[in-house]
Amino acid sequence: LCAMLSPKDLTGRKVLVTAGPTCEAIDPVRFISNRSSGKMGYALAAAAEYRGAEVVLVSGPTNLAPPVNVETVAVESADQMAQAVFSRMADTDIIVKVAAVGDYRVETPADRKIKKSGQAGLPLALVENIDILKEVGARKKAGQVVVGFAAETHDLAANARAKLAAKKVDLLVANPVAGDETAFGADTNQATLFYKDGTEEQLPRMDKAKLAHAILDRVAKLAVK
Ligand code: CTP
Ligand code: CA
Repeated sequence: LCAMLSPKDLTGRKVLVTAGPTCEAIDPVRFISNRSSGKMGYALAAAAEYRGAEVVLVSGPTNLAPPVNVETVAVESADQMAQAVFSRMADTDIIVKVAAVGDYRVETPADRKIKKSGQAGLPLALVENIDILKEVGARKKAGQVVVGFAAETHDLAANARAKLAAKKVDLLVANPVAGDETAFGADTNQATLFYKDGTEEQLPRMDKAKLAHAILDRVAKLAVK
């Protein structure tokens, strides 16, 4: 039913979506990661497919079933996600970066399980990961539309505007994550959209599938050739 009711305004468009968390190894049995269920990204990939797009979903580890008719590429680390995105971006019209990418990785993951014996603490040296979205924004070709996401606990508008500018994206979708407004794992989400031209638009809280379509309504207009 959803497929029948969706506008086919992305027919022939190639859409790349990233979703889920990334995982950075500490040792063979442990990792550091971000809170992300992947639901928003999977909803966007499914919605884009419904609207006629050819969709690639680059996903970190989630418990979700891959959307139908979507090429899903499984990755773990930020570095793997970066390679998967960079190798496909030239051949893409619309890039939507929903993934909660780990900002840091362990500098030297241990190749054997770290034993706790005799250690009162465990210092971990972290190094910064590449900012995939910033790199995508810098490499963006004319006509490509790039959409970023940001989950913020505070100063949502200021942080969102700073990210919009720094990463050279066309649209930044910001979600509040404070208190019961939390976006993680929930089936609903509330978003404020910040556009490159300086305008902003607050959307009401809604089901993630519905929000995915509301976002794509806007993206389809930005992607008009
Ligand atoms: N992002 C990315 N690569 C990273 C970090 C973030 O591609 N290494 C992308 C995310 O997928 C998201 C956007 O950048 O679309 C914003 O992510 P966010 O974590 O909110 O912003 P950061 O720039 O990492 O800033 P901070 O975590 O300090 O708020
Ligand atoms: Ca971050």
